[in-house]
Amino acid sequence: MIKVSAPGKIHFLGEHTVVYGKPALLAAVDLRVTTTVIPAKAGIHTNNDLRKIIEPIIKKYLKIKTIPPYNVEISSQIPIGAGLGSSAAVSAAYIGTLLCFLKIKWDLNLINKLTYEAEKVFHGNPSGGDNTTVVYGGLISYIKGGPIEPLPFSISPKLSKNFVLINTGKPVETTRQMVEMVAVHKDKFKKIFDEQEKLVSELLPAIETGNEKGFIRIIQEGEKNLERIGVVSPYVKAIIRKIEKAGGAAKICGAGGKTKATGILLAYHHNKKVLEKIAKFYILPYFSTSLGVEGLKLH
Ligand code: MEV
Repeated sequence: MIKVSAPGKIHFLGEHTVVYGKPALLAAVDLRVTTTVIPAKAGIHTNNDLRKIIEPIIKKYLKIKTIPPYNVEISSQIPIGAGLGSSAAVSAAYIGTLLCFLKIKWDLNLINKLTYEAEKVFHGNPSGGDNTTVVYGGLISYIKGGPIEPLPFSISPKLSKNFVLINTGKPVETTRQMVEMVAVHKDKFKKIFDEQEKLVSELLPAIETGNEKGFIRIIQEGEKNLERIGVVSPYVKAIIRKIEKAGGAAKICGAGGKTKATGILLAYHHNKKVLEKIAKFYILPYFSTSLGVEGLKLH
C-alpha cells in the first residue's frame, strides 16, 4: 500500500498575471488530498476519470505500455473548483503514488513536471504555479518557466493568525474559461499587469516583516486590479467592500468568477471575528487554516 498526500494552495497575489510571465506569490494550505494505491489482482482494476488523465502522461514519460493492476483511493479536504488548487493537489498526489508503485525514485522535480502536464489537460494554459506550490509546499514566489523558489522565511506570526478563508461557492465558470476570458483582452490590460507585478514585489517584504498596514493596502489594490480585468462578480465585490469598510482586506484566490460565486476569498483583519461576522451575514462557510505548510508527502 502506498500513500501520498498533497496540500491545497492560495494565491496571495499574482493569479492571472502569472499566466503572462509576471510573478505570483502563493502558499500551501493545510487542507490535504490523500491518495492510496493498492496493488490489485488482474481484472479488478477500478476506473475513474483521473486515471484516464494521469496514466497516459506517466506511460508517455516513462515510455511504458502498461501499468500493473492497482486500485486507488482518493480522499480530499479541498473543496473542488474553489481556487484552492484541488486539481493540482489530486494530480500530484496520484502521480506521486503511481510513480512509487512503479518503483521510480521519489523525485519532486519529476512529479511536478508530470503534474504540470495533467494541469494542461484540466485547464488548457496553466502557469504552473498551482502544481509547483502543492508539490514543494511553503511559500512560493513563482514565475512561469523560472527557477522554483521556495522562500526561506515564513509568514510573520503577526499576520498569519488573522486570515479567514470564506467560501463564496463554486463558480459557474471553470478556470479554463476565466483564463481564456482574460486572454482575449490581455493587450488592453498591460498597464494593470505591470501594476500587479509591482504589488507582488511589495508584498514579499510585508509578509516577511508583518507590516500589517502595507499588507492590507497591497491586498486591497491587488483585488481592485483583479476586478479591473473582470474576474470578480458584483456579488463578491460587495462582500469585499464590506470587509474593507470594516478595516480589513480580501481578495479572490485563483481564477475567480464573473456570474456569482468566485470560490475562496482570502480575507484578512486584525480581529478575525469581524470577518466571521461578515461571512455569517452572507450565510457563507468560513474557516482558518495554516498557510505555508509542507508540500507533497510520502506517508
Ligand atoms: C488558478 O489557480 C490561477 C490562475 O492564475 C491560472 C494559472 O496560474 O494557471 C488563474
